[in-house]
Amino acid sequence: AAVAAAGKPLLGFKAVPTSSADAVVVPDGYSSQVLIPWGTPIHSGGPAFKKDGSNTAAEQAQQIGAHHDGMHLFPISDKHGLLALNHEYIDTTLHYADGSAVMTREKVDKALAGHGVSIVKVRDRRGTWIVEDSKYNRRVHGATPVAFSGPVKADHPELRSNNAPLGTLNNCSSGATPWGTYVTCEENWNGYFGTDDPTWAATAEQKRYGVAAAGFGYGWHKADPRFDLVKNPKELNRFGWCVEIDPFDPKSTPVKRTALGRIKHEGATFAEASDGRVVVYTGDDQDGEYIYKYVSAERWKNSAKKGRSPLDDGTLYVAKFNDDGSGSWIPLVFGQGALTAAGGWKDQADVLIRTRTAADAQGATRLDRPEWIAVHPETGEVYATLTNGVGNGGKVNPRKPNPYGHIIRWNESGHDNGALTFTWDVFLLAGDPAYDPAAAALGADDIFGSPDGLGFDGDGRLWIETDISNTSQNLASKGYDHIGNCALLASDPATREIKRFLTIPRGAEVTGVTFTPDFKAMFVNIQHPGEASTAWGAPTPADPRAVSNWPDFDPDGRPRSATVVITKNDGGKIGT
Ligand code: FEO
Ligand code: CA
Ligand code: CA
Ligand code: CA
Repeated sequence: AAVAAAGKPLLGFKAVPTSSADAVVVPDGYSSQVLIPWGTPIHSGGPAFKKDGSNTAAEQAQQIGAHHDGMHLFPISDKHGLLALNHEYIDTTLHYADGSAVMTREKVDKALAGHGVSIVKVRDRRGTWIVEDSKYNRRVHGATPVAFSGPVKADHPELRSNNAPLGTLNNCSSGATPWGTYVTCEENWNGYFGTDDPTWAATAEQKRYGVAAAGFGYGWHKADPRFDLVKNPKELNRFGWCVEIDPFDPKSTPVKRTALGRIKHEGATFAEASDGRVVVYTGDDQDGEYIYKYVSAERWKNSAKKGRSPLDDGTLYVAKFNDDGSGSWIPLVFGQGALTAAGGWKDQADVLIRTRTAADAQGATRLDRPEWIAVHPETGEVYATLTNGVGNGGKVNPRKPNPYGHIIRWNESGHDNGALTFTWDVFLLAGDPAYDPAAAALGADDIFGSPDGLGFDGDGRLWIETDISNTSQNLASKGYDHIGNCALLASDPATREIKRFLTIPRGAEVTGVTFTPDFKAMFVNIQHPGEASTAWGAPTPADPRAVSNWPDFDPDGRPRSATVVITKNDGGKIGT
């Protein structure tokens, strides 16, 4: 079980109250600092952010991207390291000076440059974190050349396109490998593709991934044929993957690791099996989708010695949660179970391109929107957020509907993350007891909803980040009005105690938790401040500034996603 220093409770801070303020609020004795908002140049001589949205695509490609999400600090010391962070999507109201009603190639290019990953060298300079000019400072975005590896090759007929393999999009959460690389995950990639050709109809596979003629309304296909479902019908199969980037090799080409499957990857959480094989957990964040696990074929250190990636040879499994508290990992391997030639499957590449359909065929368990996954640093116990949903049934999704979400956990057999069976339980039901008696265990210091980001620190505190979106609001119908803005909470896995640590600006979600090696600085991302939401019971304004103008509070500016660094004023570990 998790323990703090002798005699001290694990959660040593005083909880902050719920908030409707347009501010980051930390507990007494803590400080917060804004670092690298959207548009910050990644080199000191780079183009400055223009607050009217008029930076060009070429300028955006030399600046921090939009909508910060998953993040990892690759430490060099307790005081400096490489910060790698994802940029999930762009807000079309904020991204351009004149909105997005008219789509141009330049606007598509600026959108692409706003996505992807930023890598910057950061340093604690006498108590203030800064970005240093460094050869490592780099952007990877939606037009960066990429490679494919594993069973699905770049020249696979289903991936052949009119252009070379380019870019990574909708970079949601991420992971860090034991060998020191960053893995960024492609989530809602389907929304970028569309067509105005009335003869187009979605294939069964495209329907399974939510591909539609209108996409999410971005309209990129109107200005760039790369995103047109008729002119370039296979381009979309190049998305939905986990992408490995070596932050310490700024000239390296990002690699799409196809053995990890093609879904709407939330994240990639790394662990080690007891025999040294690498294990990767990943959720497919859509209501009724699944949790997956990849296990490498051999010890990752052996593969590395042979110059092979342990992420190229291995087995992808999907989770089955039984109502008796047991569970198992079902292989998604061509020739096994339903995945045979007689069942309509061609080979392993086919299984991986159509991962969702393969998991359907193998009888996986539908879940209420699986988001982040975290592995306890000592016990190997695995925790996963099911953020909210209609309530997909079974004891693993106990509420119908499930507007507040919950956190499940499982112990792999023999405490071996490489095992193929496990036992599971529900760790916490989120909610507000005023509306849902199932959340009666929660009090004023800990009501919360829609858990999303998740991460452990070195003492075994489980940090829980919330993302209250309009979809959860709609499921709840007024049930979020006491919960207020999104929050970061800490919990004790041994006692289920939970406390609100931080509240964030209006309209935003908090994501991307990572620490310095001494756990004395915590980095989190504030994503989409000002996103129009019904969370505060007010009518939805057309201008995001009416909701939030964080962090600049400039009446002529616009809200910006940013990283925030949290420190304890006495120099202690976060959360103690
Ligand atoms: Fe990108 Fe499911 O959050
Ligand atoms: Ca998320
Ligand atoms: Ca979410
Ligand atoms: Ca998000």
